[in-house]
Amino acid sequence: MKTLTKLFTSLTLGLLLATNVSASDSKQKIDSETGLIIANGFNDVKTNCTVCHSAKFITLQRGDRESWKDMIVWMQETQGLWQFDAKTEKSILDYLSTNYAPDSKIDRRKNLPASDLPVNPYDKK
Ligand code: HEC
Repeated sequence: MKTLTKLFTSLTLGLLLATNVSASDSKQKIDSETGLIIANGFNDVKTNCTVCHSAKFITLQRGDRESWKDMIVWMQETQGLWQFDAKTEKSILDYLSTNYAPDSKIDRRKNLPASDLPVNPYDKK
């Protein structure tokens, strides 16, 4: 019984410590419901981008403004995502390209320029 209490206490302490560390480690505020960074535009993204799928799709993704825009257009053309008015789109793209920008440490290298690619045998000209 005593060991159990001890175990429980250390588990609880461990959890408390872990929570504290992660909170002070990153200065960013994280929305506990979605895991999204709370910053300008957060509400627009939470409202529009967590309807069909988990916000993990966003938090695990990185991209510059152009690639975020491409992903949104792709969802609009093929996945039933609605159109945004200019203000909302700007707010969403500002948020995504600021908070989920490419990280040089984990990002893939840039695509090779066409001039460095081998001849495409399927390209019928
Ligand atoms: C109408 C439904 C819908 C809404 C709303 C929606 N998405 Fe998606 N999204 C999808 C579907 C469907 C997929 C593909 C899921 C799969 O591949 O299994 C997807 C995939 C993604 C992916 C993964 C793309 C990849 O190539 O890995 C990202 C990132 C993403 N969505 C971000 C967003 C953002 C940002 C918003 C808000 C602007 C948003 N989604 C709103 C339907 C939606």
